[in-house]
Amino acid sequence: MELVDAPHSKCGTFGFVGSSPTAPTSLIKTYNRFPLDLVKGRGSWVWDKEGRKYLDAVAGIATCSLGHSDKALNKSLSKQLRKLQHVSNLYGIPEQEELAQWLTSNSFAKSVFFCNSGAEANEAAIKLARKYGHIERNIDNPVILCSKESFHGRTLAAVSATGQPKYHKGFEPVVRGFKFFSYNDNESFENLFDDLEKTGPTIAAVLIEPIQGEGGINIGKKSFFELLRKKCTNSNVLLIFDEVQTGMGRTGTLWGYEQLGIEPDVFTLAKGLGGGHAIGALLVNTLADVFQPGDHASTFGGNPFACRAALTVGKEIQKRNILNKVKERGAQLKEGLIKISDKYSDIFISTRGVGLIQGLVLKDNIKITSLDIVKSALEEKLLLVPAGTKVLRIVPPLTITKKEIKELLLRLDKSLMKLS
Ligand SMILES: Cc1ncc(COP(=O)(O)O)c(C=O)c1O
Repeated sequence: MELVDAPHSKCGTFGFVGSSPTAPTSLIKTYNRFPLDLVKGRGSWVWDKEGRKYLDAVAGIATCSLGHSDKALNKSLSKQLRKLQHVSNLYGIPEQEELAQWLTSNSFAKSVFFCNSGAEANEAAIKLARKYGHIERNIDNPVILCSKESFHGRTLAAVSATGQPKYHKGFEPVVRGFKFFSYNDNESFENLFDDLEKTGPTIAAVLIEPIQGEGGINIGKKSFFELLRKKCTNSNVLLIFDEVQTGMGRTGTLWGYEQLGIEPDVFTLAKGLGGGHAIGALLVNTLADVFQPGDHASTFGGNPFACRAALTVGKEIQKRNILNKVKERGAQLKEGLIKISDKYSDIFISTRGVGLIQGLVLKDNIKITSLDIVKSALEEKLLLVPAGTKVLRIVPPLTITKKEIKELLLRLDKSLMKLS
């Protein structure tokens, strides 16, 4: 299969450049797609329309937590489909209550708002932070501090909170009220924070990912996050974690903040929460009263179907001891990636990651990009996704087996052999 670069090389969604020969022309071209149409999935495997089988180390970009077509998820969703699919937040929704209870009894949070995606969850967090800034800190124009390397989504406020300028290009003016510091850089953060607070309260919140996904699998340093926690607590500023990519078991603990041993005041979820179904959530500790009726809403947010999906994913993670498996498979994957990084030391500098969010970091001064490796892997029937041009991301289903990790590493090795 030949992979063709699109003539208009640009960052595209998730940095892909390619064009699908089978892509319908009636879609708005927001995605540079790989040239295959996926039609079926089972566990860690997907099939294209020609019947070719691929090992899926993308999993809907860290989303299909239980793999494809999981039996338990199929069963509970089939039942929910027949029972009730959607009503409205005008009425009580028992599945929503049940999911909120599951989330709050398995995290520090006490209350939840449901929406449909990661960007929406962050929008809700941004609105909550601004309102908190107005009412609790008496700030007229509250500022939210974010990292320069961050990714928080594509809606206008979420993209404005995203520090990477390539995502702003063409959409200026971005929403004001966001200022940026360098990730894991104590001095950069402290200087910005102190400068803004010098003449009185200005900052409503700090919004940050415990591990940066799209930014290149950057692992948050404990000492840096301790500083964030201390500064926020001392100044009554909210600490918000974007756990859209790290939440729901991806790191081997249910929530990314457990890896750091630091609790934020607010965190957001989406991706793996619904195991492939659209649901996002905003979770708060003591701030349930900041939003009052009428302040925020979502037509589809917390619908019975999506909540049933997330509940099933959560319960299956616990019942099948999936967190332990993520730790074991994560360690196996890491060991294999270190060997690969050593073997192809002309391409890679290092590996980084926790659990089943892993990355191979490419050298700066080479021609090969992460996308070249993704394309080569595709020929080996292995699906991978870049995290920027310099990091190859590996985010398989949380249920991937020992044998499948071996196969993944074998296919990756073969893909690299062709490039070196
Ligand atoms: C950390 C993080 N936040 C937010 C988002 C946006 O999520 P969504 O695409 O569901 O809007 C993403 C998506 O990649 C993400 O990785």
